[in-house]
Amino acid sequence: KLKIKKRKEWFIMKKVTLIPGDGIGYEISESLVEIFKAAKVPVEFETENAGTDVYEKTGELIPESLYESVEKNKIAIKGPITTPIGKGFRSINVYLRKKYDLYTNFRPSRNLPGIETRYKNIELAIFRENTEGIYIGEEKFEDEEKTSAIAIKRITRKGSERIIKSAFEYAKNNKISKVTVVHKANILKYTDGMFLEIAREVAKNYEGIDLEELIIDNMCMQLVTNPERFKVIVTMNLYGDILSDLVAGLVGGLGVAPGANIGDDIAIFEAVHGSAPDIAGQNKANPLALLLSSLEMLKYLNLNDFAQKIENAILKTLESDCKTGDLGGNATTTEFTKKIIENLG
Ligand code: NAI
Repeated sequence: KLKIKKRKEWFIMKKVTLIPGDGIGYEISESLVEIFKAAKVPVEFETENAGTDVYEKTGELIPESLYESVEKNKIAIKGPITTPIGKGFRSINVYLRKKYDLYTNFRPSRNLPGIETRYKNIELAIFRENTEGIYIGEEKFEDEEKTSAIAIKRITRKGSERIIKSAFEYAKNNKISKVTVVHKANILKYTDGMFLEIAREVAKNYEGIDLEELIIDNMCMQLVTNPERFKVIVTMNLYGDILSDLVAGLVGGLGVAPGANIGDDIAIFEAVHGSAPDIAGQNKANPLALLLSSLEMLKYLNLNDFAQKIENAILKTLESDCKTGDLGGNATTTEFTKKIIENLG
């Protein structure tokens, strides 16, 4: 008799920089580490922190060792970081995005079981340009009396092309037949006009994927009336910032909103909510946003089976009564984490 040996899957351990952040960042990061350990995910976390707490200990907002770790591992996951006012950075988050040219801000949103909202059947990804637009920080007063101020919005061909391609590639890989580009080209004829023009050019290279064009104000109205009709949205920095929080609100709020900042070389996955100082250290934080971001990270690492396994456990947990306060339950972060681990099977 021939003995058939069962093939064992071997995965090479992947190192990922974990940036817990501050406030509830520690609690939600602990939850993530425990769940990955229980699910035997072949990821080894290298913890490096930035923000207020690090500044108090070391006098640096972002230590050199964090840059080294991110540049070596090329992939990081982070909790919320508070940027103290007047310490040389406008925002640590924005700084990291710029430094590593993480031009794609990816924000997927969908309805989850056990999370009541007014809307059903939402499954939608927003691609927000992350490095230019009105966020370049070029602002000034026009007169000494400071009665008039201006801000510059910069849109480039290169910056527009790459974010629009990211959105189309995602649509192609996920068999989605429409990409919606959001703009205000009727008013901003050069900047938004160019973005829209490039969207039309890029769309020509993707047979079977339609380009839908919507003006930002109409988009807002459509999103609160028929959100289920959108699958992929691509837009400039400011519109994307606003729309992605709007859509997060449609499916249950920032506590359940994952996100990622992706460049050609480096990617940083993140929970998009803040450090929630009102509940920090009280074992009340919902780790879901960070966990859902970690699932996107696993897919990016081609560890889809592990992503699926953890996702199933999360969905099963959400169907039960074991939920954190922000989701209408009374479970602690620890209890919620334990339940997910139990549901890993
Ligand atoms: P926030 O998102 O921290 O809190 C807003 C409300 O949502 C609070 O009531 C909070 O308790 C609740 N909340 C947020 N995340 C939650 C979670 N995971 N589980 C349960 N409840 C949750 O926004 P806020 O208060 O405006 O900002 C606090 C600090 O966070 C600020 O210093 C800000 O700079 C920083 N921040 C950092 C961000 C990042 O690193 N990506 C993003 C937004 C704010």
